[in-house]
Amino acid sequence: MNLRQLFLQHVAQTSTAPLALEIVKAEGCTLYDASGREYIDLIGGISVANVGHRHPAVLEAVRAQLDAYLHVMVYGEFVQSPQVRYAEALVQTLPAPLRSVYFTNSGAEAVEGAMKLAKRVTGRTGIIAFQNSYHGSTQGALSIIGSEYWRNAYRPLLPGVQHLVYNDFASIDRITTDTACVVAETVQAEAGVLPPSREWLQALRARCTQTGTLLVLDEIQAGFGRTGRLWGFEHFDVVPDVLLLGKALGGGMPLGAFVASKELMDHFTDGPVLGHITTFGGHPVCCAAGLAAFSALQSEGMITDVARKAELFRTLLVHPAIRSVAHFGLWMAVRFESFDVCKAVIDRCIARGVLSDWFLFASDCLRISPPLTISEAEIEAAATIILESI
Ligand SMILES: Cc1ncc(COP(=O)(O)O)c(C=O)c1O
Repeated sequence: MNLRQLFLQHVAQTSTAPLALEIVKAEGCTLYDASGREYIDLIGGISVANVGHRHPAVLEAVRAQLDAYLHVMVYGEFVQSPQVRYAEALVQTLPAPLRSVYFTNSGAEAVEGAMKLAKRVTGRTGIIAFQNSYHGSTQGALSIIGSEYWRNAYRPLLPGVQHLVYNDFASIDRITTDTACVVAETVQAEAGVLPPSREWLQALRARCTQTGTLLVLDEIQAGFGRTGRLWGFEHFDVVPDVLLLGKALGGGMPLGAFVASKELMDHFTDGPVLGHITTFGGHPVCCAAGLAAFSALQSEGMITDVARKAELFRTLLVHPAIRSVAHFGLWMAVRFESFDVCKAVIDRCIARGVLSDWFLFASDCLRISPPLTISEAEIEAAATIILESI
C-alpha cells in the first residue's frame, strides 16, 4: 500500500472525503506536496501558522529547548522557564485583571478548564453559549457548540446549557444570577467571520458584571493578530473575565490556555486541591515555540500589515459569482451561491495551487486565514487563482 492508502486505512478518518494531500514540507506561506507541487496556504492550519510555517525563531527556540529538557513534571509543580516566560509575555500584553495563565494541550481543554473554573468560582451551573459557535470537540466543548446537528449525536451532554442568538440584544436578558458563565467567540469564526457590534459586546459585558456571571471570550481563532489587533476584544473596549487561547498560541506546536485573574485561578488550588491538572499542558517545547512566535509576531510588524493585506485581498476578489466577502482583519469568508459552487471553486483552487476550505456553519463560504506573513505577490497570485477557479 502507498502512504495515501495507509493513511486511509490506519489513520482514523473524520470525513468520507479527506483532502489527503501528502505534504512533505511547509515554509512561510507555502506548502509542498510529495509530487513537488506548491500551494499558497490560505488556511494556515486554521489560524495556527500566523507567523508563517517554520518561522526561523520558532525553530531555534525549539532546538534550544530540546537541548535543555523535554517533559519533566506535570503542569504546575516545577518552575519551568518556558512556561513562566511565556505566561509573563502574554500577561504583559493583556489588561488587568488577566494575570494568570493556565496552559493546556488544546483549545478544547482551555474551554473545559474555563467552564470548570466558572462553576467553581460562582457555585452556579448554568452556562450560556451562542448559536453557530464552535469551541471544540470534547464533551464539555461539544455541549456548547452552536448546532443541534453536532450536539444531538452525542447526548447526554452537559446539563444547564442554553444557546442564544449571537449579537442579539434580547438574548442578553436570559443571563441571570443562575448563570455561571457566558462563553462567546469574540468574532464568530465558523459562522463565516461574524464580528458582533461594539454595543452588543459591551452590553453582554455589562450584563455579566450585573449578574456576577463570568464572561469567557474565545479567541482561539481570533487572537494573535488575526483581526488586525493583537487581541480581538481590543476592538470592542471590553475585557473578559476569562480569555481562551489556542491555535497560534503554540507557534505550530500544540498549546492552549485560559487566562484569568490570579484571584479566580486560585480556586483550583484548594477545596479540592488539584482542581484542574494536566500531564502535558504547557509542555516546555511548545511554550518555547509559542514564546518565540509571539515575540516575532510583535517585533516583525506582522500585525501592522494586516489591514493593508486584507484590503488588497478585498479589492482583488471582485466577481459576479462572489455574493459577499465577510472580513475582520486578515480573515475572510468569501460567499458563493451554494455549497456546491463553493466546493467546486475550492477543488479547482487546490488543483491550481491554492489551499482553502469552507466554514463549519457557513459551507457556502471559502476560507481566507493565511499566515499573516503572506506577501503582496502571494495575495495577488492567490486571488488570481480564485478568480480563475470561479
Ligand atoms: C473558536 C474555537 N474555539 C475552540 C476550538 C477548539 O480548539 P482545539 O481544536 O485545539 O481543541 C477551535 C478549533 O477549531 C476554535 O476554532
